[in-house]
Amino acid sequence: MKSLMKPQKIRLAILLPVFFAVFTVSKADDTLFQDVVLKDGGNTIVSSGGVFELGFFSRGTSSNRYLGIWFKKISNGTTVVWVANRQNPIPDKNGTLKLISPGILVLVNGTNSTVWSSNTTTSVQNPVAQLFDYGNLVVRDANDEDPNNYLWQSFDYPTDSFLPRMKFGKNLVTGVDTYLSSWASPDDPSPGPYITRIDLNGFPQIFIRNVSSPIYRSGPWNGLRFSGMPNLKPNPIYNYTFVMNRQEVIYTYELLNDSVVTMMVLDQQGILQRYTWIDRTQKWELYLSVQIDNCDTYNLCGAYGSCNIVNSPACGCLDKFEPKFPNNWNDADWSGGCVRKTSMNCSSDAFQKYSGIKLPDTNVSRFNFSTSLDECQALCLKNCSCMAYTSANISNGGSGCLMWFGDLVDIRAYSENGQDIYIRLAASDVGGEGIGTARLVIILSSVFVFMAIILCLCIIWKCRKMKWQRKRPISRSSRYGQNWHDLETAEKSESHSKDDLELPLFDFVTIADATGNFASHNKLGEGGFGPVYMGKLEDGEEIAVKRLSKESKQGFDEFKNELNCIAKLQHRNLVKLLGCCMHEEEKMLVYEYMPNKSLDSFIFDKKQSKILDWPLRYQIINGTARGLLYLHQDSRLRIIHRDLKASNILLDMEMNPKISDFGLARIFGGNETAANTMRVVGTYGYMAPEYAVDGLFSVKSDVFSFGVLVLEIISGKRNRGFQHVDHRHNLVGHAWRLYKEDKALELIDESICTSYDPDEVLRSIHIGLLCVQQSPEDRPSMASVVVMLGSNYALPEPKVPGFYTERKLMEGDTSSSKISWSTNELTFTVLEAR
Ligand SMILES: *[C@@H]1O[C@H](CO)[C@@H](O)[C@H](O)[C@H]1NC(C)=O
Ligand SMILES: *[C@@H]1O[C@H](CO)[C@@H](O)[C@H](O)[C@H]1NC(C)=O
Ligand SMILES: *[C@@H]1O[C@H](CO)[C@@H](O)[C@H](O)[C@H]1NC(C)=O
Ligand SMILES: *[C@@H]1O[C@H](CO)[C@@H](O)[C@H](O)[C@H]1NC(C)=O
Ligand SMILES: *[C@@H]1O[C@H](CO)[C@@H](O)[C@H](O)[C@H]1NC(C)=O
Ligand SMILES: *[C@@H]1O[C@H](CO)[C@@H](O)[C@H](O)[C@H]1NC(C)=O
Ligand SMILES: *[C@@H]1O[C@H](CO)[C@@H](O)[C@H](O)[C@H]1NC(C)=O
Ligand SMILES: *[C@@H]1O[C@H](CO)[C@@H](O)[C@H](O)[C@H]1NC(C)=O
Ligand SMILES: *[C@@H]1O[C@H](CO)[C@@H](O)[C@H](O)[C@H]1NC(C)=O
Ligand SMILES: *[C@@H]1O[C@H](CO)[C@@H](O)[C@H](O)[C@H]1NC(C)=O
Ligand SMILES: *[C@@H]1O[C@H](CO)[C@@H](O)[C@H](O)[C@H]1NC(C)=O
Ligand SMILES: *[C@@H]1O[C@H](CO)[C@@H](O)[C@H](O)[C@H]1NC(C)=O
Repeated sequence: MKSLMKPQKIRLAILLPVFFAVFTVSKADDTLFQDVVLKDGGNTIVSSGGVFELGFFSRGTSSNRYLGIWFKKISNGTTVVWVANRQNPIPDKNGTLKLISPGILVLVNGTNSTVWSSNTTTSVQNPVAQLFDYGNLVVRDANDEDPNNYLWQSFDYPTDSFLPRMKFGKNLVTGVDTYLSSWASPDDPSPGPYITRIDLNGFPQIFIRNVSSPIYRSGPWNGLRFSGMPNLKPNPIYNYTFVMNRQEVIYTYELLNDSVVTMMVLDQQGILQRYTWIDRTQKWELYLSVQIDNCDTYNLCGAYGSCNIVNSPACGCLDKFEPKFPNNWNDADWSGGCVRKTSMNCSSDAFQKYSGIKLPDTNVSRFNFSTSLDECQALCLKNCSCMAYTSANISNGGSGCLMWFGDLVDIRAYSENGQDIYIRLAASDVGGEGIGTARLVIILSSVFVFMAIILCLCIIWKCRKMKWQRKRPISRSSRYGQNWHDLETAEKSESHSKDDLELPLFDFVTIADATGNFASHNKLGEGGFGPVYMGKLEDGEEIAVKRLSKESKQGFDEFKNELNCIAKLQHRNLVKLLGCCMHEEEKMLVYEYMPNKSLDSFIFDKKQSKILDWPLRYQIINGTARGLLYLHQDSRLRIIHRDLKASNILLDMEMNPKISDFGLARIFGGNETAANTMRVVGTYGYMAPEYAVDGLFSVKSDVFSFGVLVLEIISGKRNRGFQHVDHRHNLVGHAWRLYKEDKALELIDESICTSYDPDEVLRSIHIGLLCVQQSPEDRPSMASVVVMLGSNYALPEPKVPGFYTERKLMEGDTSSSKISWSTNELTFTVLEAR
């Protein structure tokens, strides 16, 4: 698996050098007539607009000759899209193509033996073969241009390239099955082990197979896209459609603007990718990859397993299911899959809804487009071997019925663009549904009464507790004791405001004791928003206390709301908030203490940096990416950090990175997700250009900071203050120059030069550069970053990074704005009048 997915500089066979010996001696012509032969070394056939060319070619050092079609105008004619005699190469240049009656193309070798031929079921008087500007070579009657009457067309028998207007799939009338098969190697067009085709068992799906075993499945067409291709979306380049009727089951796409060149190719690793031709770079650039990550591996997690790429490990069981062989499961062998926790009983089953998933393999399924979802449920419930059902078409609110018989395999979870499915479970697991209505009413009402009683008891208890607490003197040792004195100001908003503070409230005395009265030797550092002290509670637990600067003008309620939100953010790559403390004007946050301090104390320090070898650094990059992804996307708040930097990444005992100071930007004003802010918080060197200059922030400004961080982790140098003898660029600029000169590995820190994996380092630098691109739209989202870090697929080319200008001397530059900052690393804030 691993070696298969090794990144390849250029995946397309067609980009490799070829040696043509084709001379176009006569005027370009797009048609071959019955009495004319096309000789190797003679002329070629060129489509009327000069887009495609048909002729003989060879590859690499081999003298084997093939008849093929390639792009004429672009890529110097090296992109071959179709090959006739891929299995029977002609060893010399004596091959000839001719069109014989009643309309068959025949390719013969030097001894007049047929090495390849087209075929036809009908015969015509006057056949011609014509090459069209969309890449199709057709044999037709000279006087009949109707595509339905073509005798033969190359689009029915493609090799590895799926061109616009080609119909990929099966014609049920003629029996023609159009599928792709990979080249054996870049220099050998003979069929490789990989094939992709539409499979008509059950509800049709696209499969990619390795010889005969499936390696990828697209999922069924759901009216909008294939269920497992979330990246197939309406776009400005092409439109696409899936047709399923009695005549054909096909997928096809068309260009919306003929000036764009795009096609899909099944490469020699079995990966199906779409490329577009970019004139400026004179290269085929990757547009999208059908297989995105490891979760796209067919049936990775076994039956009823669900693959979610943001989890580690990616495989898990669907809710209400458990591993069939827990021991194998723990050893990362997921093939056994999962089973229901409560085995089902056909007579009393019900359906549980699962959302956001890629629909399971439909190879054993039935569907009906005119059945409603309710009827569908009833039908499925009736048949004991029906395991699940869903809408067959999700466009326009959903319609039709799709039912699965047999185990559900190859399921994955998506954070967006997934679908709903209703899976059969024992009624007791679903809870209520499927039980008789009368029983349901009884159960529900008793639950209701029970809850009402509990609620009353709670209220009574709370009131009593409150009275009791008010009388109680403040206890120095009560760690979570509420400090009523400090809260007197908020007394008016009474019970609801105090009691819904879910976060433990430390009293000021406890904190002062723990930190030795904020002694300077306990000061850990000066982060954004205020100094941080180390402290030790009476029970020995170590804490870190952040004393928020008084600048925050937030009132008590607002502060508390924000804190409640932040306290709910929990992820292994975020520092855990233990509680807070409020004392007069002062606000403090209490965090878990990280014995290894922050990342900057390692990577920028000559001695300490030796501790962080490359595997640890890679772990830190990955962990930080996941933490940031959680803030951006997976947490309900969608938090933009706005001050991501090495000193805000703390390290635990195992050197796992934990992001700190998240959510503080909200406390200090502004909780919009993408907005123009009056207040710029951030740190020079890490700020994205649009944020530093215009105050525009979005998740993409965090992505920029992340990119800087990645480059710093690799190089062990600070972006700001970076010096180089040859130029005055900052670290990002330096990395970009090295990358452009293909010397990116020169960037790495000396202290990791014995431990690094060049592939991982190069990929990380590449991703870092993608993150620091000038334009926010070009930068990938954190979700993509996490995926890129975890897979080996080809990455897009980065564009020029932000701030790519050589510096003059920065000193004095700041006088014109009211920015206040003292040291290199300090977070600064600016209040601008707008
Ligand atoms: C195409 O051919 C031209 C002239 O022969 C050459 O300069 C150029 O580098 C070639 N481009 C590619 C991509 O091979
Ligand atoms: C032509 O093809 C035939 C049949 O495949 C083969 O026997 C013969 O050797 C080939 N001749 C040349 C010159 O390749
Ligand atoms: C095939 O071509 C080679 C030169 O490439 C020539 O020497 C040879 O005689 C040719 N053979 C036939 C059967 O025409
Ligand atoms: C092949 O066929 C052509 C035309 O039918 C004929 O002129 C030529 O002599 C043949 N060559 C051989 C080697 O049989
Ligand atoms: C035509 O040729 C293709 C492959 O070359 C083959 O799969 C197909 O069955 C043939 N059709 C007829 C009608 O002979
Ligand atoms: C395809 O099959 C071959 C041989 O069974 C195997 O070595 C290779 O890893 C497989 N490729 C993929 C992508 O599964
Ligand atoms: C796709 O675009 C082409 C060209 O604009 C148009 O003719 C065709 O109807 C469109 N197809 C679909 C399914 O929208
Ligand atoms: C097609 O693309 C070209 C170049 O990208 C652009 O100039 C032209 O306006 C586009 N045409 C349409 C109809 O969008
Ligand atoms: C399962 O179904 C059988 C008959 O279909 C019934 O006798 C049995 O009580 C059911 N068991 C449960 C746990 O519902
Ligand atoms: C359907 O797919 C499953 C999982 O790959 C396989 O076990 C089963 O044999 C297939 N059934 C049919 C009828 O192809
Ligand atoms: C599909 O469902 C409709 C309405 O429920 C029914 O009339 C029709 O016979 C069904 N078709 C098939 C093939 O089962
Ligand atoms: C349940 O569905 C399966 C698969 O379609 C079918 O073979 C079987 O006859 C059905 N059973 C009943 C009781 O309808």
